[in-house]
Amino acid sequence: MADEKDPSTPKEPAAGAASAAAGATPDTAAAHPAGTAAGSTPPLPTPPMTAASAPGGVQAAPAPRSNAATGAAAPAAAKTAEADGVSRRGFLKWTTVGWVAFSAACTSGLVASTRFLFPNVLFEPPQSFKVGFPSEYTVGEVDTRWKDAYGVWIVRNSDGFYALIAVCTHLGCSPNWLAAENKFKCPCHGSGFYKTGVNFEGPAPRPLERARIVLSDDGQILVDKSVKFQAEKGEWTKEESFLKV
Ligand code: FES
Repeated sequence: MADEKDPSTPKEPAAGAASAAAGATPDTAAAHPAGTAAGSTPPLPTPPMTAASAPGGVQAAPAPRSNAATGAAAPAAAKTAEADGVSRRGFLKWTTVGWVAFSAACTSGLVASTRFLFPNVLFEPPQSFKVGFPSEYTVGEVDTRWKDAYGVWIVRNSDGFYALIAVCTHLGCSPNWLAAENKFKCPCHGSGFYKTGVNFEGPAPRPLERARIVLSDDGQILVDKSVKFQAEKGEWTKEESFLKV
């Protein structure tokens, strides 16, 4: 009774096992692991089934692809798809750019073509105009009221009126009347002109030009710049180059 309850007591092998062990040769005992019946043929290791070795010519189902294989193929497929996506996006981008450039070129061409339908028009002041009544002018003074509007000075002396065109005879600048110095002075190269319009200093080669000046029907002074008189040609003595009052 004490042996059955004491777990530390070594158990005796079973009678069958002991007899088998007694009848077995040492080689057999060594070849068969414990628990294998003595004298029986040891099982051969089963080779993995392949398509060629499947019994009856039945092909075995292909082994599932390992995670390693699928894991290597997935990034490659992703890269291919990504490359396709990039190239597609690039194609769309450059197509859009091309269309935008083409549209801009067409628009600018259309604008330029339309521009030709409207010729350039220069709005110049009229060549013939009225400058008021003779009584509005003081003898001995240069009237500068009409320079900006019509480009002329109206000068009154003791005999009458003449209209000087405000264009320098050197290179075409617009001189200024300097009352304190009693002369016209060109700001470009320094040409000077007397009150009569005759040049006396600077590079101007000839006097200022005069415009036709007459009395209109209503009694106002009428100036016509389309008719000019040049001193060097002796034209200042012509009628209508000077208005006598
Ligand atoms: S343009 Fe008047 S001096 Fe040259």
